[in-house]
Amino acid sequence: MRLCIIGTGYVGLVTGTCFAEVGHQVICVDNNEAKVRQLQAGQIPIYEPGLDELVARNVAAGRLRFTHKIADGVENSEVVFIAVPTPPQADGSVDLSFIEGVAREIAGCLTSYKIIVDKSTVPVRTGDKVRETIHRYSRSKVEFDVVSNPEFLREGFAVEDLMKPDRVVIGVLTQRPVIAMREIYEPFNAPIIVTDIHSAELIKHAANSFLALKISYINAVSVLCEATGADVVEVANGMGLDKRIGRQFLNAGIGFGGSCFPKDLSAFIKISEQVGFDFQLLKEVQSINAGQMDRFLKKITDTLWVLKGKRLGVLGLAFKQNTDDVRMSPAIDLCRRLLAEGARLRVHDPKAMEKARAVLPPGDNVEYIDDLHEVAEGCDALLVATEWPEFTRIDLDRVRRQLSHPILFDGRNLFDRAEMERLGFIYKSVGR
Ligand code: UGA
Repeated sequence: MRLCIIGTGYVGLVTGTCFAEVGHQVICVDNNEAKVRQLQAGQIPIYEPGLDELVARNVAAGRLRFTHKIADGVENSEVVFIAVPTPPQADGSVDLSFIEGVAREIAGCLTSYKIIVDKSTVPVRTGDKVRETIHRYSRSKVEFDVVSNPEFLREGFAVEDLMKPDRVVIGVLTQRPVIAMREIYEPFNAPIIVTDIHSAELIKHAANSFLALKISYINAVSVLCEATGADVVEVANGMGLDKRIGRQFLNAGIGFGGSCFPKDLSAFIKISEQVGFDFQLLKEVQSINAGQMDRFLKKITDTLWVLKGKRLGVLGLAFKQNTDDVRMSPAIDLCRRLLAEGARLRVHDPKAMEKARAVLPPGDNVEYIDDLHEVAEGCDALLVATEWPEFTRIDLDRVRRQLSHPILFDGRNLFDRAEMERLGFIYKSVGR
């Protein structure tokens, strides 16, 4: 099918590319001309495993192209996906101005029937507003349908999640767009749920909030584990084998971050407030998440006492593994809090150093270290802040010799506790 994707952020770029990969003709639109030129030149602005080859292959095959003109995308497509940012506002609600702006622009270039699909994460009933807006601003008054089709990709695994989705959710008002939507997703061989637009919109916020809840739950259990001498990894393994629970998203640590969970939780709480429901459960999820970082910092100060002037190595700056994204990163938050205590940091991340420099500027107290194996040199302790699997392959004997004291704070439970103790480390992790 001929598809247009408006917005070339994580969701838009990966979705468009994967649609092209399964044979659709895709036009990706972005109003940032410099970014479009970059993409046209084959440069991918984000680190996402496998994406660059996929873009190159589909551009070369003539199935994928980039433009900054919405009209070009809309006129040459049957289905138009909106994948623009929905950033948080100070009161926790979502800024929908990009969605509204794009809806008006689409309206301005409608000349024949189109299906307009919202892929961005939006509050329930946004689809109604998009429909009203397009109707109001469309001069031609041609027919169109608005569909909600939320995205469930994880950064760092986005291509995999898109090519092999657990499910596809399609929210519609009438049956007319269903055939085309099924045709788009047919090559992905996933269960397709066709529902009403409001339910589709709610599925996204409810799913993300539930995953965040799962993480806060295990983090709360980790507090009990520490107090009683249990091991949260054992508890998570024991719980996770129950198919009704599942092992995923039961990794305790310094908490969740990123551009989705914190924002989506606030938005879901706000939406609930607007319909008169106080979603206290989710407020508790937020508070446990914040507490996790406080408890980790306390562990550090309990061991090292005064941080002023201490030299600390920090492994990880991205908000999670396999990404260069540092938005709302717990690792960056940790660094800032250590700096506020007067610590001096030697930091490293396999992919996020460039983006981190913008939010954590290098200087007297922050040194960016290119080689993972040099981070611990001369430090009073080493800290793990992001769950990059390569950190587990570090030469621990060498790290122990590099540290002035063999102390390792593992905020992501990456290492084996018994092994660390056998190697002579003072090893502090989360809930173990
Ligand atoms: C999340 C959802 O997992 C996706 O399904 C969703 O599509 C996406 O948000 C979105 O709304 O766009 P993402 O934010 O990319 O994806 O990353 P996750 O893998 O969910 O991790 C989020 C945070 O939770 C990270 O900081 C990670 O370190 C933390 N986490 C994750 C834990 O602390 N423990 C876990 O067991 C799992």
